[in-house]
Amino acid sequence: MSASSSLAALEQGLLADIAAAADLAGLDAVRVAALGKKGSISAEMAKLGQLPAEERKGFGQAVNQVKEKVAAALEARKAALESAALAERLASERADVTLPVRPGPEAEGRIHPVSQVLDECIEIFASMGFEVAEGPDIETDEMNFGKLNIPAEHPARQEHDTFYFGTRPDGSRLLLRTHTSPVQIRTMQSRKPPIRIIAPGRVYRCDSDQTHTPMFHQIEGLVIDETTHMGHLKWVLEEFCKAFFEVDEVKMRFRASHFPFTEPSMEVDIGAEAIGKPGRWLEILGCGMVHPNVLRNCGLDPDKYQGFAFGMGLDRLTMLKYGIPDLRAFFAADLRWLRHYGFSVLDVPTLGGGLSS
Ligand code: DAH
Repeated sequence: MSASSSLAALEQGLLADIAAAADLAGLDAVRVAALGKKGSISAEMAKLGQLPAEERKGFGQAVNQVKEKVAAALEARKAALESAALAERLASERADVTLPVRPGPEAEGRIHPVSQVLDECIEIFASMGFEVAEGPDIETDEMNFGKLNIPAEHPARQEHDTFYFGTRPDGSRLLLRTHTSPVQIRTMQSRKPPIRIIAPGRVYRCDSDQTHTPMFHQIEGLVIDETTHMGHLKWVLEEFCKAFFEVDEVKMRFRASHFPFTEPSMEVDIGAEAIGKPGRWLEILGCGMVHPNVLRNCGLDPDKYQGFAFGMGLDRLTMLKYGIPDLRAFFAADLRWLRHYGFSVLDVPTLGGGLSS
């Protein structure tokens, strides 16, 4: 075969291979086989050196023409294959913009019912002008009991099932606070009346059954000024209950009781029709007028200042409002429970927009 007819055959073969390449990888294999270092066109080029001088120019030009044609064909086929691949992707990955938005991780998360109820309480009391105050979970014996008019041998100390730490060199004892009432003391010691605060937080008692866990939550309230009386206390609690249980009327019963830090003291029950159980009373909180000794212990003159305090269990309020039967499940970190009883992250409770919806 003459040199020119073998070049023509090479060209035809390569052009056929290019046309037959089904995808980009196949096409690249053809390119390497033709133009690569050991490719068929490169092999033709290498023959130039052995040719007599007069044939070199013609043969060189002929090989170059083949090379250019093949390169152009490769280029064209590549563009065709690429646009076919793109068209196929566009067809298979078509986005249906009419589909509903997929919920993101923020919609997967749930607000724990106790956090929800805490937010609801803060919203209600804030609307009445209460500020949120805080105190530490680890307290001294003196703050948790002494300053609250519960002296060393007082039986109330036994009732509280306290978790104690060791005794410090100065004789004071550290403990996990058994109620949020020490925040009353801290607040009265650190600022002047008028005072109007709520203090939510964790409290601890060595107790565990279906309605008791060693850690639970309370919310304390304290109002101190020169004129606040028990009528104000009753009004605040009634307004709170109506707003919290999201009802227009709520039946309340104030029962005489005893707490060392209030005088007089009361326990408050609500008529359970507010939560759909008519005919029953449910205890929801303790309250009273702040005891003169407590005011004195905080450096306030009981002849000048007076006010009220209350304390309630947040977990209990949560169980009542949302019909959750077992307190222990609150702290079991069971995702199925949280998905069932939890609240959407985006539903922030507000009085205007609804507390629980
Ligand atoms: N600290 C009390 C308890 O844990 C609850 C309580 C009762 C708080 C009466 C008060 C109050 O502020 O006035 O059992």
